[in-house]
Amino acid sequence: MKEHALFLQAAFPAGETGYRNRANCYRESFEKVLWQTVRLADGAVGEGVLHSGEVFTEFTVTAEQQTEKLTKIPIDFRITQAEKRLRAGCANSMDRRMAGQTSQLNQHVLRLLSGLIMFKKQILREVTSCRLFTANYPLLIEHIIREAQLYQQTIAALEQGSCMPLETVGETEQFWNQIMMEHALFIRGMLDPTECELVETADTFAGDYCRLLEEAEKQNCRTMDGLTEKTLEITKRYRDFKEAGAEGITECGIRSVILPLLADHVLREASHYLRILKEERE
Ligand SMILES: [Fe+2]
Ligand SMILES: [Fe+2]
Repeated sequence: MKEHALFLQAAFPAGETGYRNRANCYRESFEKVLWQTVRLADGAVGEGVLHSGEVFTEFTVTAEQQTEKLTKIPIDFRITQAEKRLRAGCANSMDRRMAGQTSQLNQHVLRLLSGLIMFKKQILREVTSCRLFTANYPLLIEHIIREAQLYQQTIAALEQGSCMPLETVGETEQFWNQIMMEHALFIRGMLDPTECELVETADTFAGDYCRLLEEAEKQNCRTMDGLTEKTLEITKRYRDFKEAGAEGITECGIRSVILPLLADHVLREASHYLRILKEERE
């Protein structure tokens, strides 16, 4: 959410001070809650999460430093360094005080999230009725609205004592396959037109996920297993493609209008999805 706010902030014209300031406020607020989250998470995160590449990658700190320089928006990369030092552990051993702090943090995040979602929806409305300009695609704004809504549902479910916001494995895969398809679509559009090979590969992945979405529509639960295998195989290759993209962009080897932090952000989301898919299989 902190990065979404930064992507929004960076893409408004200099004169849109109202929108820029609001995005900046959300960015700062989410940066603060991320600090708190990392502090509370030490010794209470699953080993699988820590090593999945969804929290940080080998490119994250570099991408943050480059993005700060390029956008002039400050990014506290010490949070990422603290994430790298996180220790795994079982949240079941959480004491009462920690449970209270976690719940308080969740309530605070829920309040922030409803504000951020409204803000994103307002931007989308204004942009699609041509009253506001942003360098972000409307699809990207829709995309980050849906991600924020999933996050909101996840925390709300946790606070109510359950843990699955999406009802079935199929729904989870439909959600993330659409997210992965959209990443491919806007990556393709943000690459320089001369990057023919990368544009073509991004297109192929968009097509792959589009087909997975269509196949899942037609199938029932019983045939879902085969589809999960296929999804896993495509997502592994897709993660590698995004990794090469993040490397190329942080090394200035790819012509594009993609911020280094956006390249790293979509890589982490692919790693997150990959972990979910692998856990489903177990
Ligand atoms: Fe995102
Ligand atoms: Fe995303």
